[in-house]
Amino acid sequence: MFPSDRPRRLRRTPALRRLVAETSVEPRHLVLPLFVREGASEPTPISSMPGVVQHSRDSLRKAAVEAVSAGVGGLMLFGVPAEHDATGSGAVDPEGVLNLALSDLAAEVGDSTVLMADTCLDEFTDHGHCGLLDADGAIDNDRTVQVYGEMAVAQATAGAHVISPSGMMDGQVGVIRESLDATGFADTAILAYSAKYSSAFYGPFREAVDSQLQGDRKTYQQDPANGREAVREADLDLAEGADMVMVKPALSYLDVLRGVAEQSDVPVAAYQVSGEYAMIEAAVERGWLERERTVLESLTSIRRAGADLILTYWAADAARWLGAEQR
Ligand code: PBG
Repeated sequence: MFPSDRPRRLRRTPALRRLVAETSVEPRHLVLPLFVREGASEPTPISSMPGVVQHSRDSLRKAAVEAVSAGVGGLMLFGVPAEHDATGSGAVDPEGVLNLALSDLAAEVGDSTVLMADTCLDEFTDHGHCGLLDADGAIDNDRTVQVYGEMAVAQATAGAHVISPSGMMDGQVGVIRESLDATGFADTAILAYSAKYSSAFYGPFREAVDSQLQGDRKTYQQDPANGREAVREADLDLAEGADMVMVKPALSYLDVLRGVAEQSDVPVAAYQVSGEYAMIEAAVERGWLERERTVLESLTSIRRAGADLILTYWAADAARWLGAEQR
């Protein structure tokens, strides 16, 4: 008898395949990143991310309601301010666009979803860096984390359930935890962007937030050559009080994701970033890839590598496809 081993037996029918699938993607695993632009009366398309827009405060509320009713697990909000300055003061201002939009969403969808806020200065500074600069133009880590602490309190006050520091400054999680605890927000959670790489795949995001960046972020974001460092960063964030940790980007860093997931005793997130979205959308536009199959395969791979939750610009679409699949 040849062959004696026949793994194909379990692939024979859809029902068998469904029975033995190790990994699944459910709408609740998906978090939708959303952009809100100060002063906009209409949504503005982002050309390098077809289908994604900078929302007005009104269109943001509608998009949030739609995503929540599609079943997504949460929303991650980014602000695009009208004015930028050296210290990113719009980030801590309760009347700043991100904080106003958070209160809009807290009122509109509130506890029916998980409201997350990007806690970083790059969208708000005129130099586009994630931190404050010293007199020589270098990042001032320790002054920056104090501002992150203030920003986190402003976001929690506006109604964010989860604070998401993405600036890769040393000690950022600890300072944010202290600031929240000292102001009555001991129950506000922190999702730490622990292993965030200095990646070319953030290209389209620069357009999404009208980034002013000159130069690069290599003195604070991780070198793509390093894997072990990601585990160290995650350990430090956990010691400082992170409730969840994140690896970003996703597809080119699945090994890193696996490494962090193996070490972590808290939920692990992965961020399928703007460039990952743009690549697939561009190929779909040319008729070279099938959107739904390709997206769901990429999400399944990210889950298989160890992600509990996934931030993805397809969150609402994928939640709808998955919902239809189940019926
Ligand atoms: C920083 C931040 C960035 C992204 C999320 N948070 C940009 C960067 O670090 O350069 C990128 C997300 C994406 O590319 O989809 N606030």
